Amino acid sequence: MVFILHLFLLCVTAGWFIQVHAQIQTGYISIDCGSPENFNYVDLDTGISYTSDGSFINTGVNKNISLEYAYPNNPNLPQPLSDLRSFPQGNKNCYTLRPNGGKKSLNLIRATFMYGNYDGANKLPEFDLYLGVDLWLSVKFKNSSDVVTTEIISVALEDTFSVCLANVGLGIPFISGLELRPLDGSIYKIDPGISGSLVLFQRLDTGYTNGSGRYSDDVYDRIWTAYNSPSWDSLHTSLDIDISGDGYRAPNEVMQTGSTPKNGTDSLEFGWNVPDPKAQFYIYLYFANLDVLGMNQTREFNVSWNEIQLFGNVRPRAYYASTFFNLKPLVGNEHKISIKKSFSVNNVPPILNAVEIYRVQESSEQATLSRDVDAVENIKTTYNLNRNWVGDPCGPKNYSWEGIICNYNNSNPPQVIFINLSSSGLTGQIAASIANLSSLETLDLSNNSLIGPIPYSLEKLSFLKLLDLRGNQLSGYVPKPLLERSQSGLLKLSVDGRNICDSTSCQNNKKKILVPILAPLLSFLVVLLLLIIFWRTKRKQKGRKESSNEEGRTIESNNKQFTYAEVANMTNNFQTAIGKGGFGTVYLGTLKNGKQVAVKLLSASSSQGYNEFQNEAELLMRVHHRNLASFVGYSHDNNRMALVYEYMANGNLKSYMADRSIHPLSWEMRLKIAIDAAQGLEYLHHGCRPAIIHRDVKSANILLSENLDAKIADFGLSKGLPDDQTTHILTDVIGTAGYLDPEYRKSRNLNEKSDVYSFGIVLLELITGQPAIIKNMDHIHIMQYVGTYLRKGEITSVIDEQMRGDFNLDSLLKAIEISVACTQPMSTQRVTMTEVLTGLKSCLEMEMTRGLRNQARANHVVHSMDGLRMDHSPDICSMDFELMTGPSGR
Ligand SMILES: *[C@@H]1O[C@H](CO)[C@@H](O)[C@H](O)[C@H]1NC(C)=O
Ligand SMILES: *[C@@H]1O[C@H](CO)[C@@H](O)[C@H](O)[C@H]1NC(C)=O
Ligand SMILES: *[C@@H]1O[C@H](CO)[C@@H](O)[C@H](O)[C@H]1NC(C)=O
Ligand SMILES: *[C@@H]1O[C@H](CO)[C@@H](O)[C@H](O)[C@H]1NC(C)=O
Ligand SMILES: *[C@@H]1O[C@H](CO)[C@@H](O)[C@H](O)[C@H]1NC(C)=O
Ligand SMILES: *[C@@H]1O[C@H](CO)[C@@H](O)[C@H](O)[C@H]1NC(C)=O
Ligand SMILES: *[C@@H]1O[C@H](CO)[C@@H](O)[C@H](O)[C@H]1NC(C)=O
Ligand SMILES: *[C@@H]1O[C@H](CO)[C@@H](O)[C@H](O)[C@H]1NC(C)=O
Ligand SMILES: *[C@@H]1O[C@H](CO)[C@@H](O)[C@H](O)[C@H]1NC(C)=O
Repeated sequence: MVFILHLFLLCVTAGWFIQVHAQIQTGYISIDCGSPENFNYVDLDTGISYTSDGSFINTGVNKNISLEYAYPNNPNLPQPLSDLRSFPQGNKNCYTLRPNGGKKSLNLIRATFMYGNYDGANKLPEFDLYLGVDLWLSVKFKNSSDVVTTEIISVALEDTFSVCLANVGLGIPFISGLELRPLDGSIYKIDPGISGSLVLFQRLDTGYTNGSGRYSDDVYDRIWTAYNSPSWDSLHTSLDIDISGDGYRAPNEVMQTGSTPKNGTDSLEFGWNVPDPKAQFYIYLYFANLDVLGMNQTREFNVSWNEIQLFGNVRPRAYYASTFFNLKPLVGNEHKISIKKSFSVNNVPPILNAVEIYRVQESSEQATLSRDVDAVENIKTTYNLNRNWVGDPCGPKNYSWEGIICNYNNSNPPQVIFINLSSSGLTGQIAASIANLSSLETLDLSNNSLIGPIPYSLEKLSFLKLLDLRGNQLSGYVPKPLLERSQSGLLKLSVDGRNICDSTSCQNNKKKILVPILAPLLSFLVVLLLLIIFWRTKRKQKGRKESSNEEGRTIESNNKQFTYAEVANMTNNFQTAIGKGGFGTVYLGTLKNGKQVAVKLLSASSSQGYNEFQNEAELLMRVHHRNLASFVGYSHDNNRMALVYEYMANGNLKSYMADRSIHPLSWEMRLKIAIDAAQGLEYLHHGCRPAIIHRDVKSANILLSENLDAKIADFGLSKGLPDDQTTHILTDVIGTAGYLDPEYRKSRNLNEKSDVYSFGIVLLELITGQPAIIKNMDHIHIMQYVGTYLRKGEITSVIDEQMRGDFNLDSLLKAIEISVACTQPMSTQRVTMTEVLTGLKSCLEMEMTRGLRNQARANHVVHSMDGLRMDHSPDICSMDFELMTGPSGR
């Protein structure tokens, strides 16, 4: 009976203990390195839940320490040390730890090593441990049972930490245990001028003499070493110490013991020496009075470092913990701390309950340039590379990823200069991201199964000295600029014959074609010139509307850069805001010539960063079309960026349509707006080389002039396709909810059909008078709204009531068909902008030719039809939308 009861109690106690620790393990990462796959357990000694390495690293092999050093021969061996993970392959292997607090969070990371003759070689290895690119510790052992434990306190610079083991040629690196503990960000602060981490030097539970302590009530799971000097006395209380007022949260058990000098007149002194005279330290001193002093007694002391006073008149409170620490690092190779009564009468001797000493590990190297990191990470995922490409690609120095070489220059982050992925089983196309490695000198992709074109963007790699693409199934030719560089000896080009027209035949070909081509080309130019002159004269004769366009043209040719002062001046110090977006605010401005402009001022916190700004400014300089918002100039002054556009008096289509009662729009006007917008897009897709995808087509980005001419605006998100052969590109999904192409959203494969989809939504808005996402109908999408009626066959119910049935029904039905053809789920089923335009024009023609009820209005539109026909083939109505619409369309 008694025996059973005893056993029962034991179980209850053990269970309770584990539970207590489990409760405070939030955010803990505890890895028992080398334990069998998926082997998770709770360590009965500490109550900590350990997991195996699987989800933190892909490299290395699991090993057990030799029996001689294992349990039961070594009965006190902590369970995590019985096995380890060793890394015979590769010069750098990294664990990736993802702290709960993410980027900028403060964490304590602890690594533990015990050799235990796991390889039977009885030879102690030496290797380096890195946190990111910074050396953390050179790991060395005294003997096979020596346990090396090291802790570092560091702020996460990214979402993850890389803990890396580097082979220095002195044996195979291994690791036994790896733990991460989240810390409160307000503690263990170091001088903001120092970039680095704190490596634990000593953590002492002073006054305690009974071994080391790892306490379940230490929320940060620190390991405290018992320490008492022979000249110190131990003080101890069994009463609880209040640690709530102190962020450092030293556990109760640690604070309950303290040291005091044996000889009451002495001070408490301790010190340490290191070889490096530039070593920097931070100390954390923990104090609490462990008894209540008499009425006429005080405990007050001064703390000094090397005779320099750090803290004066420290008076610990009874049973209440407080922590003192230096704000500036203590620099030197000899350090002496002394804690001394601040006055002598009625002053009891000083006390010290615990102390932590940390050494600053300054960042010695910079991490790889983030653009290069993104590019190589992209290459890794694109080709699903089964390589040990983990941690920083270039750092630490001499430990770059396999097949990658970097340049190191202390004043700049390292960059990738060499990539050798020869015979690496690569399939698919050449990753476009390679072109982002701006310092690349050598690119060897030979003997893989690459297909597709040779990206034109490789031409951007101005330092490229060697390009080897042999042994692939690439189609298309080497971009001309690269060929030219190779011919002038700047680039060593190795490609398969089919990817290059050999130099002699190319030369000959050029000469041969030149003459026959030149003659027709010249006569074509003459004709074109005549046409332009004719067209311009014709336009000049036209009314007011056309002359405003003329003015737009003069502005275009005067694209210019403004100073910030000029921008402030033209907007009268940003007086009138006329719009607001994620990028900042749009202000009304007036140029010196009296012309009104819209000034888009990018806010400092703008989500549209410098790159998008540059993108937009460059695109705007490149494109000119009557249906694209004309660009007056830009300003990039003191990091303040502004874009200056032609002012469009009627704002954007979305808000124009929203004020429905004020601005009734006839079907004909709506069609005209749709045609204008379609022409702008058609030009971007098919008139620009390379083509431009707008990426954010929506009614809010269609601007209306005084005469309701529509222009497409906001190219901040636009992407040029890298070259003519490429038909789609992989990108981050950008766009506006309601207009975003579902296929693009899923696949991130961007092509111009994504704009077609968005345009289809705009067209539906014009037809139905409803916004893309209908707020007052439970936020349903306009496609759902239209779909419900179309399925019931009640087509006319979706038509905007505001038009009061005053339209040609065939024209409207055809427009619905077009919008359906634009918004097909698969991009391949969607029509092109050219087809859309042809269709819409035929809609307009139908609407125009219905009974000449409104002669004046009809005239106006026929007028502009003239302009429309200019740049397009006249085969209106040649398209059959019945074929285009898929089965789901009806
Ligand atoms: C280590 O020992 C454990 C328990 O005996 C065993 O399950 C595991 O397979 C061993 N691991 C290796 C790598 O030998
Ligand atoms: C191994 O080294 C540790 C640390 O110096 C020491 O405490 C221990 O006694 C040594 N063990 C053996 C077996 O030499
Ligand atoms: C250390 O252990 C001894 C005996 O096990 C005990 O009497 C003493 O109180 C302990 N000291 C502290 C500070 O816990
Ligand atoms: C305590 O220290 C003082 C000064 O160092 C010394 O004069 C005195 O003899 C010491 N007392 C004892 C009891 O050791
Ligand atoms: C402090 O006060 C106590 C009585 O509370 C007295 O016995 C003692 O002598 C006093 N000590 C000093 C140093 O004055
Ligand atoms: C302790 O520090 C205080 C305040 O800085 C100072 O006034 C006092 O003289 C110091 N006492 C000793 C013994 O150094
Ligand atoms: C890198 O390697 C070179 C040559 O092997 C060596 O001289 C240099 O000290 C190494 N640098 C580092 C930081 O280890
Ligand atoms: C390091 O970069 C700086 C600035 O870009 C440059 O002036 C210097 O020459 C570079 N040093 C080396 C060794 O490349
Ligand atoms: C790339 O590596 C292969 C062997 O893996 C080697 O034959 C080739 O010379 C290397 N290329 C360059 C440019 O060093």
